[in-house]
Amino acid sequence: MSEENYVDDDFSLIILSKVDPEKPLPAEVFLKVDGKYIKFRNKGDSISSEKFDLFVSKGIKNIYVHNEDIMEFLEWLADSNDEEVDQMVAEGGEENRGFFERTVETKEKVYEVYFEDELNDEIVGKLQENVEDFIDEISKNPITAQAIQALSQRNNTVAEHSVNVANLAVYLAMVVGHSHQFVLENVYMGAIFHDYGKAKIPAHILENVNNNMYSHAIQEHPNEGVKILRKTKGIPEQVMQIIVQHHEQFNGHGFPRGLAGDDIYELAQIVSMANVFDNTLYENKNFPKADRYKKAIKVIEYDNGKCWNPKYIPRILDALTLAFGEKKMAS
Ligand SMILES: [Fe+2]
Repeated sequence: MSEENYVDDDFSLIILSKVDPEKPLPAEVFLKVDGKYIKFRNKGDSISSEKFDLFVSKGIKNIYVHNEDIMEFLEWLADSNDEEVDQMVAEGGEENRGFFERTVETKEKVYEVYFEDELNDEIVGKLQENVEDFIDEISKNPITAQAIQALSQRNNTVAEHSVNVANLAVYLAMVVGHSHQFVLENVYMGAIFHDYGKAKIPAHILENVNNNMYSHAIQEHPNEGVKILRKTKGIPEQVMQIIVQHHEQFNGHGFPRGLAGDDIYELAQIVSMANVFDNTLYENKNFPKADRYKKAIKVIEYDNGKCWNPKYIPRILDALTLAFGEKKMAS
């Protein structure tokens, strides 16, 4: 990073939640630290997903560009969203365009929420409205297996992962028989916020992952997420239960409470499966697509009552195989 004497009049502000962290930037970008502008990235570099998540934990919401670059930057932002949707359409089919457009919109809202230092009722309310519209739409027009697969190509940041888990969890919830708007909204909101407590682990703890404070923070992230979210009104108790229980395991060996069996909320189990599935895809991102999917399906298939109630598994496996399994030859 280089530091020069810049003044506010030289710069325009860009809201970080609108920027794709992996895309090469169209111009130099700056951070404002203690009132000074510090060059952060050159033209052609990308922000990187790791930095993006760090900014979330530090509550850094904006980046800055030189005034002469602002028009180009804004055009680039507008194009990025379209390109993202086009890529998903190429993968998941034109018939799912509406679903992909809504997902990209929702992701932006999720980024906004994640970048806030302090949540307030208004911002959570806006996200909730977005989720209501989204669920309303997919109740009429269910998420297809193909759309889910196209979406899971991208899971680089905490917010991207959360949106994937949300879509996948709603798909799975429908598969096990849930169809009520309210229930599906709760699944979606619970999944969006499941790792909120983790995203908000303070930067000084994140930077030193080998110490006890970090393992304690990880152990506590389900509780911590709920603690922060309780400060805002209007989030249903069912959503809180999903968040606080998403690491509980059917055999009682999960955390933070070590609940077992039917004491674990069913919707938390659904979100937990979607979470483990998306995490397995991410952990194997350097393997060919088919191998990643096979591995993620096996994690669910071989669970055997460890993490999840075995009664869900057959239907969940059918749905995952439909979305991610090898395509069956036409007979
Ligand atoms: Fe988690």
